[in-house]
Amino acid sequence: MNPSTATLEAICQGLTDRGWLVLDDAVAPALLQALRARLHKLPDHAFHRAGVGRQGDHSLQPDYRSDRIHWLEAAAPAEQDWLSWADAVRQHVNQHLFMGLQSYEAHFAHYAPGQRYGRHVDAFRGQANRILSSVLYLNEAWADDDGGELLIYPDASAPDSAMRVSPKPGRLVMFLSEDMPHEVLPAHRDRYSIAGWFRVRAASAW
Ligand code: OGA
Ligand code: MN
Repeated sequence: MNPSTATLEAICQGLTDRGWLVLDDAVAPALLQALRARLHKLPDHAFHRAGVGRQGDHSLQPDYRSDRIHWLEAAAPAEQDWLSWADAVRQHVNQHLFMGLQSYEAHFAHYAPGQRYGRHVDAFRGQANRILSSVLYLNEAWADDDGGELLIYPDASAPDSAMRVSPKPGRLVMFLSEDMPHEVLPAHRDRYSIAGWFRVRAASAW
């Protein structure tokens, strides 16, 4: 189940014009359904509390980030389907925008009611190997007053400029990882997604 031509074109257009995009019906209904089924079949112990920071400076800060995550693995067929989908996006973006993306990593995320992820960027310039962020929402029908919006600040210096993205089923959000502070507001319901990052090789530490 590869991305449609229309999806690939919309991704390139959004990244070129603005550095971010919100795309509804981004994946085939069968893929969305397979991903939901997989997520809901995973036992509780397959999820762990997400932390903040990588490797050495990794820490748990539950007031700031309280979702629980499960990293996708190629051995699970539905997870592999999503990794393949994302790899087709990676190749297309490389061909058309010359971004040199080398790999993709992703996790399911579950925010229980009231849980949030405070304002952050997914990568810091200079030490960054996360270049392009993606989020696919796996929720069932989501009303506007269910909350859980993703707020994106395309202009980091203008806090009032936030865009509010409701986590509607099948909606895909992508943005340049270094440029866009963002945060996840608490929801009134369980909130399900796949967050993923297209990467280049980590800078070596010489
Ligand atoms: C993340 C993130 C956004 C969302 O996991 O880093 O910012 O809407 N997720 O779930
Ligand atoms: Mn993020």
